[in-house]
Amino acid sequence: MNKQKRQAVIAGNWKMNKTPAETTALINEIKPLVANADCGVVVCVPFVDLHAALDAAKGSNVKVGAQNCHFEKSGAFTGEISADMLKEMGVEYVIIGHSERRTYFGETDVTVNKRTLAALNSGLKVILCVGEYLEQREQGVTAELVSMQTKIALMGVTAEQLKNVIIAYEPVWAIGTGKTATAEQANEVNAVIRATVAELYGADVAETVTVQYGGSMKASNADELLAQPDVDGGLIGGASLVAEDFAAIVKAASK
Ligand code: 13P
Repeated sequence: MNKQKRQAVIAGNWKMNKTPAETTALINEIKPLVANADCGVVVCVPFVDLHAALDAAKGSNVKVGAQNCHFEKSGAFTGEISADMLKEMGVEYVIIGHSERRTYFGETDVTVNKRTLAALNSGLKVILCVGEYLEQREQGVTAELVSMQTKIALMGVTAEQLKNVIIAYEPVWAIGTGKTATAEQANEVNAVIRATVAELYGADVAETVTVQYGGSMKASNADELLAQPDVDGGLIGGASLVAEDFAAIVKAASK
């Protein structure tokens, strides 16, 4: 067990929730509750809330992330946001390849790879999401699928750039459903992801990569999930929208 070699990170994915004013209020509530955290703390907010989030988080240990970015530097891509735009604002993290983007917005493994490279080349840190649908789990292809998603997403990413990548295992059937993967299921797939990173970059590098679990993680199940040897934090949806709930998960990761 090499958990000492990597940082646990708890990241909130606010999805399409909170206005700028609500963002300021929620971050102001979160800040004192997580000030003593012994793990990374990130909030990934809607694009229009980034300015408010950066202002509210200034001087604290709360880092700010976006939820997507485009793969081109600039151009005729109506409605899109580039990695350089985020970087210049002071944004540190960006979620790439969330299953909601894959399911509802036509994101593929190839576009996830292009967005990952664009974000890393602009100096952003990436929270890269992988995970299977329920039918795929039932067909017994979870390990192959997640391994393939990881490999394609990381095509062209150097070992140096990998230091700026967190991988989040999010089983789609556990997102927003209240159905959490068991701690064993989460650990098993996180270990597959780490083994895939080892295949690509070597075992030493793989030991240093933060691999989160996401999918109905909350205060009541965080302890058990985070105690697993290959679970290095969490990507939190619903529970990240309530300061006390989010802070309780941060506390669990700080033990
Ligand atoms: P929930 O925590 O609401 O299940 O969402 C998980 C998620 O999708 C985080 O990215």
